[in-house]
Amino acid sequence: MAGLLFRAIKSAILFAYGLFTMFAYAFIQIRNGNFFRKSSEKEKLELYLARERFWNLSNDWAGLSHQFLTLRNGFKFHLVCNDRPNSGPNTKPLVIFIHGFPDSWAIWRHIIRSSAIQSAATVVAIDLPGYGGSDSLGKYSATNVLEKLTEFVVTIRALYGIDGDGEAEQRRVVIVGHDWGCVLAMRLAAEAPQLADRFILTNGPLPGLVISNVRRLVSSSVKMFKTALRSPLSSRSILFKAMKSMKPVLRQLTRSGYIAAMQLPMTFVRYLGSGGNYSFLRATHRISYGRTEFTIVDAAECMASSLGPSAEECKTRTKDNEQYPASVKKERVFGNFDHMAGYYRHGAATSRWRKSIETIASLHSIARGNEFRRSSSGAGLFDDGPEGVLKGNSTVIWGKEDIALEPPLCLDGISDYLVHNSQVILLPRSGHFTPMERESRVALEKAVEWAVKGEREDIGAVIQACYPKATVTIRK
Ligand SMILES: *[C@@H]1O[C@H](CO)[C@@H](O)[C@H](O)[C@H]1NC(C)=O
Ligand SMILES: *[C@@H]1O[C@H](CO)[C@@H](O)[C@H](O)[C@H]1NC(C)=O
Ligand SMILES: *[C@@H]1O[C@H](CO)[C@@H](O)[C@H](O)[C@H]1NC(C)=O
Repeated sequence: MAGLLFRAIKSAILFAYGLFTMFAYAFIQIRNGNFFRKSSEKEKLELYLARERFWNLSNDWAGLSHQFLTLRNGFKFHLVCNDRPNSGPNTKPLVIFIHGFPDSWAIWRHIIRSSAIQSAATVVAIDLPGYGGSDSLGKYSATNVLEKLTEFVVTIRALYGIDGDGEAEQRRVVIVGHDWGCVLAMRLAAEAPQLADRFILTNGPLPGLVISNVRRLVSSSVKMFKTALRSPLSSRSILFKAMKSMKPVLRQLTRSGYIAAMQLPMTFVRYLGSGGNYSFLRATHRISYGRTEFTIVDAAECMASSLGPSAEECKTRTKDNEQYPASVKKERVFGNFDHMAGYYRHGAATSRWRKSIETIASLHSIARGNEFRRSSSGAGLFDDGPEGVLKGNSTVIWGKEDIALEPPLCLDGISDYLVHNSQVILLPRSGHFTPMERESRVALEKAVEWAVKGEREDIGAVIQACYPKATVTIRK
């Protein structure tokens, strides 16, 4: 009974907070004039052109071609890639980029066009289920999303001959994730570390760590409040300390208002996605450019990345005569925000991943000799440690000015979640959108080069050479 009441109160608070956030956003957007602002002809034209550039399947984009990968049950992933599978023996390592909210493969546009990366590796940038040109899922639970993502990685590894006959030296596989892509890549690093030799993780929270940090801070300030009540004489300084330890939690709460808004009934969520002429997306895109100039073309490219193909691009075909999946052509061209919100609504970050037999078998076959080597080196699959430890080699590259994520909640104690050969690097002048911001995207590009070329130098030195004052805070 008490549990039921508690849950009811909790969902009422969440509802009220979500609603409050929506009104607050709308108010800000109305006040700054964005809400009712019509797009100019120039803006409309640029959006049309940007969508054509990113989503016309017949054309290559900066050396990358549009491809589809169909899974066992017919689910279609859209990706861009600089190579073609089965086009002769491939000796290059493989790097897979996974975007976050509210983006698509195109968030990586400044990095994957680099000729240094394209010549050093097979570059794959995917659209997550429900985003861009990939098929939709009914529910974005952890099991649904991670099963699809794992089958994708396993299949693409096979297509590019990574897991050939035991004799050949295995080529490196690197997975790079930002925001939701980072959250999902962290889950892979924790629960399917065989998938890559290096995970590069940027500005996405590690759910288990955040939850344990919130619990710790809340319980220590509750203790202090209690003490303060018992000894009123010395209470002022204790109360002050209690408030101080709650500060990151409260700050994170105010910054996570949009997550509460995502839990509202679908009508509200759709309104958040497109109301006021997409003012929520437009505001997010503006933020993604950080302090740098934001032109009409930049705004159009950001919007094209979020919205995915239009009805026009849905008529196009790849060189292999493939088209966007039916779920994109028939439904998502009219709005894809429901699907983006699904990740927040259906527990993709925190719910349990129930691996299928097929997944377990394919992970096992990838691991081969590797697994034994790792477990005997002390960084094995069955080590103790908090739940959610990243068992794969991980490089966390964090824009410290992130307005969406509080460093004390996301980074304090992260060392416990990392294995040998992992690092945390702070970028002091960058915000949340590290693949977009001018300085941080170079840092990410260099980190990817370092990883695909065999990690010969010191990663700290590599990043500092292109991003002065970057600091390596953890090195394991
Ligand atoms: C981590 O990196 C080292 C060195 O590159 C490599 O030998 C090892 O297999 C990697 N471990 C995992 C779990 O991928
Ligand atoms: C959005 O733009 C249209 C025209 O482009 C305009 O009529 C409308 O008032 C704008 N605002 C909202 C809230 O939809
Ligand atoms: C896509 O590109 C092809 C080849 O350049 C062009 O013929 C076609 O008109 C374009 N389609 C759209 C919808 O832009």
